[in-house]
Amino acid sequence: MSKIAILGYGTVGSGVFCVLRENKDLIARRAGEAVEVKYVLDLREFPGDPVEDVLVHDFDIIKNDPEVEIVAEVMGGTGAAYKFVKASLEAGKSVCTSNKALVAEYGRELMAIAEEKGLCFLFEASCGGVIPIIRAINESLTADELDEVSGILNGTTNYILDQMNRCGKDFGDALKEAQEKGYAEADPSADVEGHDTCRKLAILSSLAYGKCVNYKDIDTEGITAITREDIEYARAMGRRIKLLGTSRRTPDGVYAIVAPFLVEENNPLYGIEDVYNAVFVHGNMAGSLMFYGSGAGKLPTASAVTADIIEIVRNRGHKVPTNWTSESLCLEDTALITGRFFVRVRDLTHGEIEELFGEAETFETEHLLDEIGIITPNMTQEAFRAIAGKLGDRLIKMIRIKD
Ligand code: HSE
Repeated sequence: MSKIAILGYGTVGSGVFCVLRENKDLIARRAGEAVEVKYVLDLREFPGDPVEDVLVHDFDIIKNDPEVEIVAEVMGGTGAAYKFVKASLEAGKSVCTSNKALVAEYGRELMAIAEEKGLCFLFEASCGGVIPIIRAINESLTADELDEVSGILNGTTNYILDQMNRCGKDFGDALKEAQEKGYAEADPSADVEGHDTCRKLAILSSLAYGKCVNYKDIDTEGITAITREDIEYARAMGRRIKLLGTSRRTPDGVYAIVAPFLVEENNPLYGIEDVYNAVFVHGNMAGSLMFYGSGAGKLPTASAVTADIIEIVRNRGHKVPTNWTSESLCLEDTALITGRFFVRVRDLTHGEIEELFGEAETFETEHLLDEIGIITPNMTQEAFRAIAGKLGDRLIKMIRIKD
């Protein structure tokens, strides 16, 4: 019998409690022994909820109980979560977590403690919800040099953009719905400003390229500036706007960026709807792979956390390997990345457009008569910024094109 503690009884914590009860027998078979929740830590009371029997308010009870072998941290944040996870590892308990902020900030340090003590520190649910992308990179694609990890890594923003793209909803209503469904972070700015995607991209890139990618080095733009007008243009171009996190190996190093991109219909990311996430990985031997599944939500995320618990029980006494070393990866300057840009401009003649951008595709929409949409030819971000400087307030909006 393996005894565990769950830190946090919010959306994910109550999901883990539920998965462990609902699938108790099959989990025992797969883990090789029964898994019992001895404690759930939360500051709140839950009268009438079955968790009452195991609810505690003091972390020290968990830390000091030698029977507790595994701690599942699903509180979120980097304050108490970091303190409790570190203390759990130091007290000889393996840990799994769904907390991307914690893993992006302290992942390598916590992994080092786990390695030194012969414990596990697993974080499958921290990226892409239920998608088993971390296990795939760590354990399946080990024969490959990975040269790209890209995708839709945030369920909330995909839900919002999908509602805007397909149902014509406005940003505020779609965000409210995502919050009601339990997809959003406690502070939804982490989702809509792209910070959540940024941290997930840092984790996946650290695993893919084998060196620490500091999330603070990743250029990050969210979706708060996306308007109905942008969506109208996207439709006119047969594209959809998606928040993507992308890191790629180039001859000069690795770059990483988080931003909204215009994705065309024949790209597999175009059709990723609702709260789903998709991660594209390219390896020098394996070629292209796509992983798809629920990126947020109580039970899908809880399923991934519980699978880590089972993995820890199965691997008792063994190290679960990772390619993520403590060496830092210095990212390339995104100013030098080339791509095409969609821009909305006003007060510009076709002659001036050609003079500034060279051969550019133009689009007009039914309702936005005093402006024009342009897809630029390939250019570096630096070159684009120079042109944007010349345009001043005649530039209404820029969104990158996903090629
Ligand atoms: N707020 C996150 C998302 C939760 O929407 O993807 C899962 O990480």
